[in-house]
Amino acid sequence: MNQRKVTVVGAGNVGGSAAQRLAEKNGYDIVLVDIVEGLPQGKALDLAQAGAVCGYDSPIIGTNNYNETEGSDLVVITSGIARKPGMSRSELLETNTKIVRSVVQEIVKRSPSTILVIVANPLDAMTHVAYRASGFPKQRVVGMAGVLDSARFSTFIAQELKVSVHNVQAMVLGGHGDAMVPLVRYTTVSGRPVDQWMSKETLDEIVKRTRNGGAEIVNLLKTGSAYYAPAASAVEMVESILKDEHKVLPCAALCEGEYGLKGVYMGVPVCLGKNGVEEILEYDLTPEEKTAFDTSAQGVRELCEEVDRIFDAG
Ligand code: NAI
Ligand code: 2OP
Repeated sequence: MNQRKVTVVGAGNVGGSAAQRLAEKNGYDIVLVDIVEGLPQGKALDLAQAGAVCGYDSPIIGTNNYNETEGSDLVVITSGIARKPGMSRSELLETNTKIVRSVVQEIVKRSPSTILVIVANPLDAMTHVAYRASGFPKQRVVGMAGVLDSARFSTFIAQELKVSVHNVQAMVLGGHGDAMVPLVRYTTVSGRPVDQWMSKETLDEIVKRTRNGGAEIVNLLKTGSAYYAPAASAVEMVESILKDEHKVLPCAALCEGEYGLKGVYMGVPVCLGKNGVEEILEYDLTPEEKTAFDTSAQGVRELCEEVDRIFDAG
């Protein structure tokens, strides 16, 4: 069998769930890597045994050794830590910058032609770290957040209207934070603009809930953050790339002139195919939407300046 090889770094909640979804597709050789001994091996074995029940037989290796990742067609990077009580945002930024940088260096040595899909937070800044650490062209380093944020927006709209979520087409742009930009004007339900389906007040509440979507789940779970929808979102990107589907999805891509941005990773609509980011699509934004987008970009730029200082300090 000549299957595509996908490595998932980080065998925690998102990584484990992504490996499960990939295994169920029956089309990939999967390598699950983590720094914790036994964790990726245990999850890989458990997933292989689930295949006997679910009817998949995707090869899955769990390992602490990057040699197993050699020749990966695509690598999903979920390794990172969550902020703990008493930990400052800068400490978190420093730890995750170092984790993502070292992981990317290990991957690139063994898979110089791979495509990197970044999931670790803070997403836009960690995608910037991966881009710098890899030395790859911008097409081969892309971040996952917009697919998840748009899935949350779609879900809330469908629940409010009591219609199938498959009828909703939503688009959330900007950085993966409180200042993200759910684009109401480009959101439709069965082809009809969403603002014709509900009052402005209801829509404003849904936009607010979408921006707070990650925190809402953290508050409920208490011991971690969301992982089913994040893993599903990353896998949608993986499939669009490896199957050359050319789906247009909101992803963190390096903007160099697009949307008036220079050298900033931001959530924008991209066409994902076999080369990674095949194209960034420029939607017309109203002055109000552009202001919101620029505010979000400024937040991302400031984080990236901070990670650059950490990166340059070695
Ligand atoms: P988790 O804590 O369950 O898993 C993280 C895993 O990374 C752990 O198993 C840990 O041992 C591993 N790890 C840490 N350092 C490592 C290293 N140097 N090499 C290899 N593995 C290492 O966390 P979870 O829930 O899976 O989240 C992972 C990351 O994804 C977090 O940064 C989280 O904030 C982020 N995230 C991002 C989302 C997005 O929309 N972009 C959505 C959900 C989570
Ligand atoms: C989320 O949005 C934590 O970024 C993660 O769920």
